[in-house]
Order: sequence, then structure tokens, then C-alpha cells
Amino acid sequence: MTDISSASGPAASKAKEAKSKVFHRKVKNYSRYERFWHWSQAILIFVLAFSGFTVHGTIRFIPFHSAVMMHDIAAFVLIFLWLFTAFWTFTTGQWRHFVPTNAGLWEVIMHYLVGMMRGQPHPYKRTLSRKQNPLQSFAYFSIMTLVGPLLWLSGLAYMFYSFWAGNSGNHEIFSLVVLLHLIGAFLMVAFVIGHIYMVTTGKTLIHYTKAMITGFEDMELTEAEVTYLEAHEPDRIK
Ligand code: HEM
Repeated sequence: MTDISSASGPAASKAKEAKSKVFHRKVKNYSRYERFWHWSQAILIFVLAFSGFTVHGTIRFIPFHSAVMMHDIAAFVLIFLWLFTAFWTFTTGQWRHFVPTNAGLWEVIMHYLVGMMRGQPHPYKRTLSRKQNPLQSFAYFSIMTLVGPLLWLSGLAYMFYSFWAGNSGNHEIFSLVVLLHLIGAFLMVAFVIGHIYMVTTGKTLIHYTKAMITGFEDMELTEAEVTYLEAHEPDRIK
């Protein structure tokens, strides 16, 4: 009789799956809109950082007035995208993935600090109801509720300065607005650098990036989840 634990090939891996009750499938975790908003947000944040730090005087690849125009247009598009995505997130129930949790947070932090360097497997297994690890949820939640609003509120106050400054010019308040905007900008740039680093720590350098392009990711599912997806959402499972 064949021992399935030592056999190989598709039939053997199906038999192993049935025995272990863990099913390896490609699952569409990122819908078309989710991928669209992820990449358009990434481009807009890059354009805003580039034009913003030109206005600030840190870099000088384009003229000041072009940077101002570029920054103002990109800012309006990003605010519109954020508002629409907030609406989409709530109406589709996707907000559940972003609710922060400290269950397993420490294990994930220790994995990135130590375990990953020792080649240990990631302690977090994505599930259909929770596709982000606790550190991701915590980081995205902070960006969406703190850094994002800090940037657009201070940015709008900066943009409409002439409406609220009055005759005195309100220089102290204006300086505070610029400072808050700069703090938000540095936090956003720090997040982007950390995010790009994390994204390269998958099975291969482009593993997670590919998932955000195609929408599909390798997942471990239960038999019930496979049956559910095949019956109700066949386009989501390969
Ligand atoms: C999303 C909403 C945002 C709004 C409404 C906004 C608005 C503004 C405005 C009005 C200015 C003054 C120059 C200008 O008129 O263009 C400015 C400057 C600046 N912005 Fe933004 N911005 C936003 C997002 C961002 C982001 C995402 C970054 C970087 C990651 C950023 C970085 C900067 C920097 C570094 C400056 C120069 C500050 C100074 O030293 O005067 N901004 N922003």
C-alpha cells in the first residue's frame, strides 16, 4: 500500500490535504476596487510627497509653482479617493479586516524582529474573515484614523489660509498648521518606507506585490471554506 506522507504529485497532495483537513488554494483576497484604490493611493502619496518636499525646499527637480499646482490637484484627488473608499469599506463590510486587535500582535512583532531572520515561518495565518495580520491592521488603522485626517485637515487649513487668517495674518496658528502638516508628511513617508520593506518579506521579494496586482493569494482553507467558496463565490477560488 502507498504511504501518502512520502508520495508526491497532485493526487498525493490531494490525499494529504484530505487527511490533514487543510486545503491549499489560491483565493482572491483583493477585489478589483481594492487593488485600484491601493495603487492609485500609492501613486498619489508619492506625487504629494514629491511635490510637498519640493515646496518645503528639500528637493528641487521641478519649479516651485509647478509643485504647488501638482500638490493641490493630487491632494483633492486623494481626499476624494479616501472619502469614497471609506464609504466603500463600510458598505461592503470590508472595515472588519481593519479593526485592530492585540491578539497575536506580539508574536508578529517578534517574528519581524527575530523569527524572520532565523527563517522561521510567519506566525499569522490569513483567514477569510481576517486577511491582515494584527500588526498590519494596527498600522493601517492608525494611518486611516490619525495620519490621513491629520494630513488632510492641516492641508486644507494650509490651502484655505487666506479665508481664516484675518488681517493680523495669524502667524502663530499658521506656523502650527504647517508644523502639523509636516509631522503628518514625515509619518506618512515613514509608513511607506516600513510598508515597502514588509512587502518584500514574503516567500519571494514580489510575493505580496503580486497578490496586490492579481488579487489572488495562496491560502490554507478548511473543507467548509472550500465548499462555501466553490458553491457561492466560484470566481474567488482556483
Ligand atoms: C491629502 C491631503 C493634503 C492636502 C490637502 C495638502 C495640502 C497642502 C498645501 C495647501 C500645502 C502648501 C503648498 C501648496 O499649496 O501646495 C502643502 C504643503 C506640503 N505638503 Fe501637503 N497636502 C496633503 C497631503 C500631503 C501628503 C500625503 C504629503 C506627504 C507625504 C504632504 C507633504 C507636504 C509637504 C512636505 C509640504 C510643504 C510644507 C512646508 O514646508 O510649507 N502633503 N500641502
